[in-house]
Amino acid sequence: MTLPLTASMSHGLDGDVVVPGDKSISHRALILGALAVGETRITGLLEGEDVLCTAAAVSALGASLERTGDGAWTVAGRGVGGLREPDVLLDMGNSGTGVRLLLGVAASHPFTSFFAGDASLGKRPMERVMAPLRTMGAHFVSGSGGRLPVAVTGSDRLVPIEYESPVASAQVKSAVLLAGLGAPGRTTVVEPCPSRDHTELMLRHFGAEVTVADLPDEARAVTVGGQPELEGRDIAVPGDISSAAFPLVAGLIVPGSSVMVRNVGVNPLRTGLLKTLAEMGAEINFENRRQQAGEPVADLVVEAGPLRGVEVPPERAPSMIDEYPILAVASAFAAGPTHMQGLRELRVKESDRLAVMTRGLKACGVDVEEGEDWLVVHGTGGRPKGGATIASELDHRIAMSFLSLGLASEQPVSVDDGTPIETSFPGFVDLMNGLGACIIGEDEGA
Ligand code: S3P
Repeated sequence: MTLPLTASMSHGLDGDVVVPGDKSISHRALILGALAVGETRITGLLEGEDVLCTAAAVSALGASLERTGDGAWTVAGRGVGGLREPDVLLDMGNSGTGVRLLLGVAASHPFTSFFAGDASLGKRPMERVMAPLRTMGAHFVSGSGGRLPVAVTGSDRLVPIEYESPVASAQVKSAVLLAGLGAPGRTTVVEPCPSRDHTELMLRHFGAEVTVADLPDEARAVTVGGQPELEGRDIAVPGDISSAAFPLVAGLIVPGSSVMVRNVGVNPLRTGLLKTLAEMGAEINFENRRQQAGEPVADLVVEAGPLRGVEVPPERAPSMIDEYPILAVASAFAAGPTHMQGLRELRVKESDRLAVMTRGLKACGVDVEEGEDWLVVHGTGGRPKGGATIASELDHRIAMSFLSLGLASEQPVSVDDGTPIETSFPGFVDLMNGLGACIIGEDEGA
């Protein structure tokens, strides 16, 4: 069933909200909890579809999970190498992170696991993780072009490797490091520039030995010591900066707004959007900075105001890879062009986000140029026209980005299907409407 949604011009968003837990950290908390000995108690877990798929998969792999309250889960782990052969297909839904990280885990277990996903996940490349895992000793059978469904036969005799990753991808890095937990000796991933380091921080939190070395030209080497005994831990998952991005940008573009998002993870490898918005002239304040399970956290406050176009350098891409759709929306309101470069990876996300943003922004009357790995949005400093219906293409962030645009464009903006929002941001419409936004479902508008 699809859920058409329409966003219309709103006046002065105002309030103080908490967004759901960080998706990246939530997947990792469940997975490392499953690989630890003893109990891991998680609070603030994102209970979106993506993470629930990972929860079902780690439970099929033998971990015991219990939901003890809203966002509160305990995981009784089976120790590194202690998972068991699942007797069901592991359906990872829409989740690239879930499937790629779990392929790494399954690679270090001597049985066969079968992974599948939805139509969007079925188009995404898995070879990027299968290639290094194969050299460690795992075997794969996949759909054509290295796509899902994938069967992996792992081994308890994996060979540790030093893998030079061609992409700055935290999913690739994490898959190899997680497989490396099951191999004797040290496994190293060299990435061309640093990607989000939640796996490294959490591995340390669970007691693994992880070393990080900065190399010339921005490259970074991350090494994990194999066959550690991980110990169950408490993890408080902070709010997801990638979800906070929507109320924050809406607060910047809807005139008269003042919005606070509390308890947001502000790991510097995730905050490229905030840096870019600040360069565009946005007023964003960090309050009450603190640390939670090794991750930096803050309350973020924005006031609406004029934005100007900027150059976003390619090396910033890994720190804001999921935020280009909403940045493109902010850019449509800025005075002058915003050039975004180094965007090749956007073509293999939940949708081809470069193509989908270009099409959608043009339909909303915004002047956009698209290249193979770049985008230029020509903002006018005023309100875009809007007045279009956008196909969300099974992509949660596309749906939320265009709904945010519709809150400040001249005419309403609709998305054909808001159901993908459930993958990462359950309660998005209510949260936004609680701030004063006007987003309605088709039935309500009838
Ligand atoms: C993620 C890494 C990123 C990001 C995704 C979550 C993670 O993907 O786009 O939403 O949790 O590791 P890549 O690592 O493939 O860039």
